[in-house]
Amino acid sequence: MNISDELQATIGDMVDGRRGILAADESSGTIAKRFASVGVESTEEHRRFYRSMLLGTEGLGDYVSGVILFEETLGQKDDRGRPLPEVAWGQGIVPGIKVDKGKGPLPGAPGDMITFGLDGLEERLQGYREQGARFAKWREVYPVSPCNPTQLGLAANAEMLARYAAVCQSCGMVPIVEPEVLMDGDHSIERSAEVNEVVWHEVFHALHRHGVVLELMILKPSMVTPGKECAKAPPEQVAEYTMRSLRRGVPAAVPSINFLSGGQGPEEATANLNALNQLWHAPWQLSFSYGRALQEPALKAWEGKSGNAGRARAALHKRARLNHLAMLGEYEESMEKES
Ligand code: 13P
Repeated sequence: MNISDELQATIGDMVDGRRGILAADESSGTIAKRFASVGVESTEEHRRFYRSMLLGTEGLGDYVSGVILFEETLGQKDDRGRPLPEVAWGQGIVPGIKVDKGKGPLPGAPGDMITFGLDGLEERLQGYREQGARFAKWREVYPVSPCNPTQLGLAANAEMLARYAAVCQSCGMVPIVEPEVLMDGDHSIERSAEVNEVVWHEVFHALHRHGVVLELMILKPSMVTPGKECAKAPPEQVAEYTMRSLRRGVPAAVPSINFLSGGQGPEEATANLNALNQLWHAPWQLSFSYGRALQEPALKAWEGKSGNAGRARAALHKRARLNHLAMLGEYEESMEKES
């Protein structure tokens, strides 16, 4: 198979109109924070146990077509000694890998951030492919303030995403392009729409400049919501604003948009996705690539005790199924009460 056919095959495995992506690629610092919230220490063994527990959830592949892993997880094994990427493939789930190396302040643009990790990316991607990964993820972060993101921040972050995506496609790895507009702050939903639109515009301009094939990538954006310090907007409003901005900024050639949850609660993220899929006329698949919104109930059920694995898996299965229903626009709040 040539590279383009390989990329197309991966897109075909991941985009089928009814499944989404499980983001389980928390960096060492982030997973330590998540574990601490349920009183679990972040040791390598705890991380291995937890992530293999999630991946081994029976029937997960009915609702999840891809899983984003952290580098460490790609080399870990389940209790039966099977490499975790193999466990994913066994469930019909394509394994992928977070390849950015975290973020820091962008010099010259106070308040803006930039992500690191382009050096040596091509070699790293070859190694990840050999370990079974078929797609990658890179996240750029945009804080919102009256003066952020700046023009420089918009241009620099878009350039990073485009360079990363071009390297991925040249290595046969499908790039997930993640420009995350943060929910932190007290900005209005109108301001969120304005920022997301200009971010997507810059990102697609850069992707075009770098020759990235839009049909062979996945976009992982934020939904358009008010800042966390404001009252929440109802799902219909989030859907309306998000759809309007997406239609203005995202070419129809992109096969799938898999939203991040970004601090929305599990039920909120599902209700918003459902409302989006109840609107008419989206040229792209509208799906999920949730971390917290999929894992939170499972993490709480687990509490670091192997005896709780069954409950934790049931919690993950439920959230995955409800988000699958939200992709079909068939989710109802009353389903939250079903066991
Ligand atoms: P959240 O859904 O928790 O925002 O995580 C998704 C992700 O991959 C962030 O990079």
